[in-house]
Amino acid sequence: MNERAREQWGSRLGFTLAAVGSAVGLGNIWRFSYASGENGGAVFLLLYLLAVLVMGLPIMIAEFTIGRRAQSDVIGAFHKLAPGRPWVLGGYLGLLAAFVILSYYAVIAGWIAKYLVGYLSGELMMVPAGEYGSHFTQFTAERLEPLGWSFLFMALTTGIVAFGVKRGIEQANKILMPLLALLLVGMAAFSLSLPGAAAGVRFLFRPDWSVLARAEVYLAAVGQAFFSLSLGMGALLTYSSYLPDNVKLPREAVKVAFFDTLLALVAGLAIFPAVFSFGVDPAAGATLVFIVLPGIFEAMPAGMALGLAFFALLSAAALSSAVSLLEVVVAYAMRRWRWTRLQSGLIFGFVIFLLGIPSSLGYGLLAELQLFGRDILSGLDLLASQIVLPVGGLIFALFIGWGWQRNVALQASDFGRGWLGRAWLLMLRYLTPLMLTLVLLHALRAL
Ligand code: PHE
Repeated sequence: MNERAREQWGSRLGFTLAAVGSAVGLGNIWRFSYASGENGGAVFLLLYLLAVLVMGLPIMIAEFTIGRRAQSDVIGAFHKLAPGRPWVLGGYLGLLAAFVILSYYAVIAGWIAKYLVGYLSGELMMVPAGEYGSHFTQFTAERLEPLGWSFLFMALTTGIVAFGVKRGIEQANKILMPLLALLLVGMAAFSLSLPGAAAGVRFLFRPDWSVLARAEVYLAAVGQAFFSLSLGMGALLTYSSYLPDNVKLPREAVKVAFFDTLLALVAGLAIFPAVFSFGVDPAAGATLVFIVLPGIFEAMPAGMALGLAFFALLSAAALSSAVSLLEVVVAYAMRRWRWTRLQSGLIFGFVIFLLGIPSSLGYGLLAELQLFGRDILSGLDLLASQIVLPVGGLIFALFIGWGWQRNVALQASDFGRGWLGRAWLLMLRYLTPLMLTLVLLHALRAL
């Protein structure tokens, strides 16, 4: 495909929504809720905010800058901006991360689709109270059914990507994002009105400093920031490669980070007040959303409608993120082999579905198999969020900080000559890499 034929977003808002859509996903709702539940609530939140400021934002602006300047995919971008230099390894790592993350993301999204349909038909309301745990374990232990749902989800994702940047990705996000925001705010309002809801709010906002002594809390916060902001693997780099020059990148990055964090908080306000109101342990782990919440919905008036709304919201969030993961691969395939969108989407959508099979079977047939002492899906998630994404982010940061000319970087990022741009470069040169290296060393030791 020659450069003139390269697609572009239809509007700036379209890009913002798509980038927010990429960032806001299972990470904000499913992952954020259990990670903060396990890591001490408010303190985790503070560390997370810190990670967003010193690593997330500077790296996001770096990805936007690289993508828009190069007008190419994660790998093409480095070939173009730094030909013959090793920075392109960051691109390959990003591509690898897209495969790994989407493969297990689609498995979880498949469970969500199943729950959504379960609330549509009312079947999930029939499960006797207290048996949601075994209901979930039985379902995920099956061989074929969960894979069928995951296949369906990948087919939807591929369908959206195949329609293109403007008519597929942008249009889908214009529908999915407002829907998601509406459902989430409605749920939070309801959850906050329950008796005993205040304990949930306290949990989210009152810090228990003693967790600071645990190293894994820092790792979890950094991993959460990378995962939730879609950083370190070129998803936002690819999206920004469809941007024209007149969109101001730092402002877009602030918007994306702001909305992503806001949505995680609102999701926390939708989940924890209900969890505390029903006297459930907030550290229920990854199953919070699939076991604890359905039990709560069942006990509520209008629980079926709430369950339906909640899983519709999760599906919308998952779909818009999955689209951005697949686009990383599709953009690469279209340039590298000159395939069409449809061809690239179908081939790699299917390959990624196949790669997800072990993650799905990890709860049944392959339950014996462990990755870093966890089931396959959780092991891959740990590897991706705490190692691969931070290493990718480190490479992007170092590329802008050290591998590119200062003036080019300042101009390409739209910072120009002001002090903000200088601060951004200083962070990418020293602070961000230093913090990332410390975190990575810890993460490697903890594996
Ligand atoms: N940010 C997405 C979420 O929170 C996940 C994601 C990670 C998407 C990396 C793209 C790239 O669910």
